[in-house]
Order: sequence, then C-alpha cells, then structure tokens
Amino acid sequence: MKKIALITSGGDSPGMNACIRAVVKTCLHYSIVPFGIYDGFQGMIDRKGYEMEYTDVDNIIHRGGTILGTARCKEFMELEGRLKAIDYLKSENIDGLVVIGGDGSFTGAYHLGQEMNIPIIGIPGTIDNDIYGTDHTIGYDTALNTVTEAVDKIRDTAASHHRIFFIEVMGRDAGFIALNSAISSGAENVLIPEKHMDIEKLVRDIKAQNKGRRGSIIMVAEGDEWGGALELMEKVKPFLPDYDLRCSVLGHIQRGGSPSALDRIIATRMGSFAIELLKEGKTNLMIGTEGEHLVTCSIEQGIKENSIPDLKKIKLLAKLRTK
Ligand code: F6P
Repeated sequence: MKKIALITSGGDSPGMNACIRAVVKTCLHYSIVPFGIYDGFQGMIDRKGYEMEYTDVDNIIHRGGTILGTARCKEFMELEGRLKAIDYLKSENIDGLVVIGGDGSFTGAYHLGQEMNIPIIGIPGTIDNDIYGTDHTIGYDTALNTVTEAVDKIRDTAASHHRIFFIEVMGRDAGFIALNSAISSGAENVLIPEKHMDIEKLVRDIKAQNKGRRGSIIMVAEGDEWGGALELMEKVKPFLPDYDLRCSVLGHIQRGGSPSALDRIIATRMGSFAIELLKEGKTNLMIGTEGEHLVTCSIEQGIKENSIPDLKKIKLLAKLRTK
C-alpha cells in the first residue's frame, strides 16, 4: 500500500471529519500517501483529488460536516460513470479506497468492488443508523443529542400551553432516531416506519395522557406510514377538537454541529482500522461496532440485510405513559 484514496459520500454526518483525520494520520504514520477526493463519487468522476498532509486535518476533530465535501451522485449509478471513476483511480496509482457514507454510498462501493481490483473498505457514516452490521453509525449519537436538546425546548412550550406537539425527525425509511429520541426526551408516543400505529389508539392515548392538561410530545419519523408529522396531525385533528395541536419539523439541524464524544471515538477508531485492514490485504469489507468492539462484515451483506430498531422500546414508552 503506497497510496490510499478517501471519500465522504451521501448525507454528511457529524464525526466524518474525525474519521478523515484518523485515516490521514494513520496513513502518514505508515508512510502511505492519503489521497482525499472532494465530493464523493462525483469528485472521482470529476478527478478532484489531492495528496493530504497532517496540516489538512489539524483542528477538524470537533467540526461537523466534512472537509472533503460530499454529494449524491446519479452518474455513479451507471456503469459508464463508474468506469470514469475507475480510470481516475488507476491514473493516480491508487492501491486502496476508503468510503465513508451510508447505504447508498455502500451500494456504489459494492458495484465498484465488482468492477475493479482496487481493495475497498466502507465506514458507516450517516445520522440514520440504518446500516446492518453495526450498533452505531458515525453521526447518529450526535443527531440523537441534537434532537433531544430541541425537544427539551419544545417541551417547555408544550407544558406551558398544554399543547400536543407532533415532532418530525429524520431517518429516511428507518425509525432509529425517532424511537431513541422518544426515550431520551421523555416523549409520550412515537411513530416509526417499522411498526404500524392505529390512529384510534393514538387518539385514546393522547386523551388519557392529557386529562390533567399536561401537554405531550409525539415523536414522528419522517418515513412513518402516515407521511410525517404534519399529515399525522391533520389526520388526528378532527378527533381532538378540544386540544391545541402543533407540529414541528426539525429538519437539517439534525445533521450539523460538533460531533459528540462517542461519535468522535467511533469515527477515529474506524478510520484507523480501515487502514490496518487495507494493509492486511482485506477488501470489500464494512466496519461496524458491536458493543465495545470493532467488527467487519462484507459490504454486500451491509447493503442487503436490514437493520431495524429494537421494537421492545415502544413497549417501554407505553409503560411510562401517564394514564
Ligand atoms: O440520510 C441522511 C438524511 O439526513 C436522511 O435522514 C434524510 O431523509 C435525507 O438525508 C435528507 O437528504 P437531503 O439532505 O438530500 O435532503
């Protein structure tokens, strides 16, 4: 291994910079040239790489976003686009590639792995936590903390005005952020794509909870079956004429900000481990966490198997709900 390329791809997530730093510093430790490519797979097609130095990654461990930039690249879904990227990697004499991103990025990495003989290691970076083979993806913990802080603030208004708040969080088709932030923020109910929720039951729960005019918080995953928080609120409104309902969509604030300690630690360990794996001659692997340990599975398994949140947590919320 003389030269290793690195991209961040898909939605940015807090901790990506900590991961870039670890990849670059571990490469330099072994006298390998780290080759950062801007804007993910699009940057590979557009030939936007540069040799990175220690100074490129100074003072970035605490910064959100990604200094390499990122993109969602349609051209890469076609063989023609991928062939342009392979041509670029070959022209730069790249011996290994590290891809930090979510499931879309891993799908790209998987195809690339079938079409070229440059070893690839995937590192899961997405706030959604929806990737098989890892307990945590980089950015998920920070997003959970951001949501929890935001809901704490909304709760002040909910309690003061005795309002019912429907709060929509990100996660695409997965309910990890909604379910776990529901627990961390003491929400009264949660709607996630992985579990059907009966509207009549939800209305009954809200009425029971609000007998003492308390106000309540309902967390709604953006991918839930009713189409998100606003749609859900409109759906239940006719059944709750005497209640003051509000909706709040948290949006992209969930993706930004300084990474939590946990995200920095996971990102740093994964970034450095990726270089060790490439040095050992490993390829087409995705790194994950299992408890305290770093583990690997094939990138193919990572994209083909489903990852779903622990649905027992919904029962926990029900147990804690005021009757
Ligand atoms: O995958 C991360 C994510 O933030 C999802 O939670 C969300 O559905 C999507 O990206 C939003 O994408 P964009 O930033 O392209 O609107």
